[in-house]
Amino acid sequence: MLYRELGSTGEKVSILGFGAMRLPTLDGQDAKIDFEKTKELVRYAVDCGVNYIDTAHPYHSGESERVLGEVLKDGYREKVHLATKLPSWKIQTREDMDFYLEEQMKRLQTDQIDFYLLHSLKKDYWENLSSLGVLEFLDDAVADGRIKYTGFSFHDEIDLFFEIIDSYNWDVCQVQYNLVDENYQAGIDGIRYASSQGIGVIVMEPMRGGALVNEVPREVQEIWDEAPVRRTPAEWALRFLWDKKCISTVLSGMNTFEQLEENLKIGEAGLPDSLTDDELDLVREVRRVYHQRMKVLCTECGYCMPCPDGVNIPGNFRYFNSAHMYGDVENARMNYYGLLTEKERASNCTQCGECEWICPQMIDIKGTLREVSKTFEK
Ligand SMILES: NC(=O)c1ccc[n+]([C@@H]2O[C@H](COP(=O)([O-])OP(=O)(O)OC[C@H]3O[C@@H](n4cnc5c(N)ncnc54)[C@H](OP(=O)(O)O)[C@@H]3O)[C@@H](O)[C@H]2O)c1
Repeated sequence: MLYRELGSTGEKVSILGFGAMRLPTLDGQDAKIDFEKTKELVRYAVDCGVNYIDTAHPYHSGESERVLGEVLKDGYREKVHLATKLPSWKIQTREDMDFYLEEQMKRLQTDQIDFYLLHSLKKDYWENLSSLGVLEFLDDAVADGRIKYTGFSFHDEIDLFFEIIDSYNWDVCQVQYNLVDENYQAGIDGIRYASSQGIGVIVMEPMRGGALVNEVPREVQEIWDEAPVRRTPAEWALRFLWDKKCISTVLSGMNTFEQLEENLKIGEAGLPDSLTDDELDLVREVRRVYHQRMKVLCTECGYCMPCPDGVNIPGNFRYFNSAHMYGDVENARMNYYGLLTEKERASNCTQCGECEWICPQMIDIKGTLREVSKTFEK
């Protein structure tokens, strides 16, 4: 395993971090984590040198934190940097901040959170948290030892990112970045700026939640095939990120041993500036194709769920995107009817809009569901 400095913290983190948002589950239910498999997977990752684990209050409906608390027993807790996040959207008072931090420490069975991040900052959350004194809360929690390092994860425009970076003495920031999202949200300019300020950069959604590796469009595969070195799409996705010195660790949401083994193997070559100019040209070409074809920027993070009407929002967007990605509406329609129940389909959306405020990609969910329904159900 290769390690990199994490900003100015003095900590060295494994270049591959474990994201605990997509853990193995039972019966296809997000809140029902497969405990035994997760335990094996996470402990194996740690045994192989992974030393950064990221979770958050809402992941797997709160079960991710609770399960990690169990999984990290028997000495594993001491081997890792454990990160979790304040659920920004739930905070209405300063007391709420202390309440959630205490609850999370209990769930994770730890006296100290190594990295405590303000979750999914967007303009309205940031303004609300600031007005409630979140920076003083962080100062206090560091001073009394409940947390070791501070940070935030981010999902908004770059100007806000700069503003937040300049507002506090952050240790780390966590940003969505991958070979498609070069200039999206914080983007490469935000990452470089944070790094220049001594703030450790943690990347999330390196494979766009799996979209860059599951069912790669033929046109993209043809571009990868032009490379003199054969690499899987996962290898391209991770090598592209590790090529950048300003990125300290890349979180991957691995839920099988195959994925973990592959990512560990890819990590052996994850050195900065290790891709050639020709290889970086191929990445640019792939990005161009994805930008032409991606209809909805959904990463299936599931923050919008559950829908009060039972609509499977990420599932609808998955088939809508695949219709455009592969230019095959008929096949996507078959999946739409075959794999989504009647209740889960877009036409069941009552346009209440309860899902929209929390979407990290700020998708017009109501409008897009109308489009999905028109495309598949006409
Ligand atoms: N703070 C925030 O706002 C926020 C938002 C999103 C994520 N995060 C954090 O960042 C972490 C990483 O994001 P992510 O889970 O979206 O990561 P990701 O790596 O982009 O996506 C994970 C998915 O990629 C696929 N995958 C991973 N390795 C693979 C391999 N070698 N071969 C084939 N497929 C592979 C799997 O898809 P399948 O399961 O479909 O096979 C896996 O579920 C999360 O787990 C979470 O901890 C934070």
